[in-house]
Amino acid sequence: MACNPTTLLLFVAALVLLGGASPSSGAILNGLTVNGLLCCTGNGNCPGQRLANVGVRLNCTVLGLSSTVVGIGTTNATGGYTITIPALPGLLLGSPLLPCNVNIKLPLDAAVCPVLSATTGFLVGTLHVVGTVFNTVLGLVQVASVDAYVHVGA
Ligand SMILES: *[C@@H]1O[C@H](CO)[C@@H](O)[C@H](O)[C@H]1NC(C)=O
Ligand SMILES: *[C@@H]1O[C@H](CO)[C@@H](O)[C@H](O)[C@H]1NC(C)=O
Repeated sequence: MACNPTTLLLFVAALVLLGGASPSSGAILNGLTVNGLLCCTGNGNCPGQRLANVGVRLNCTVLGLSSTVVGIGTTNATGGYTITIPALPGLLLGSPLLPCNVNIKLPLDAAVCPVLSATTGFLVGTLHVVGTVFNTVLGLVQVASVDAYVHVGA
């Protein structure tokens, strides 16, 4: 009598949410979120002057294809960026080694960063898995941060 159908439904929904968010239950990862920072230095690594409004691409190599852009982002006022993508067919989330990189196409505008304006190629950053986070749209996603960039292709 105290248990109307709406209350029951909410209770069941809460149980499903809790179950889905528990890493110990071997939860399914629904995507990947990548955090990084970009500075105006010879290879883009910080510390240095933070670079705002610079385009960053997330590339992954999945299903035997060559490296493909799977997500894009832009650095914010403090040089930070976050790129989140849903799970991709063939991308094994949960593994410590992701077949992905973030990259910044060079040159940058001289007014933005002189030291990165007179060179071509890409700054390529490798990913380092740091854990999982609950994303309001996707649910549980893997989190990776960007290690040092290297300048490739000149
Ligand atoms: C990223 O993928 C694009 C194709 O979508 C490719 O042209 C580019 O070389 C890739 N960059 C890296 C650094 O993997
Ligand atoms: C910039 O982006 C980073 C990484 O997403 C975030 O931690 C930081 O709070 C953002 N800063 C601003 C000023 O939006």
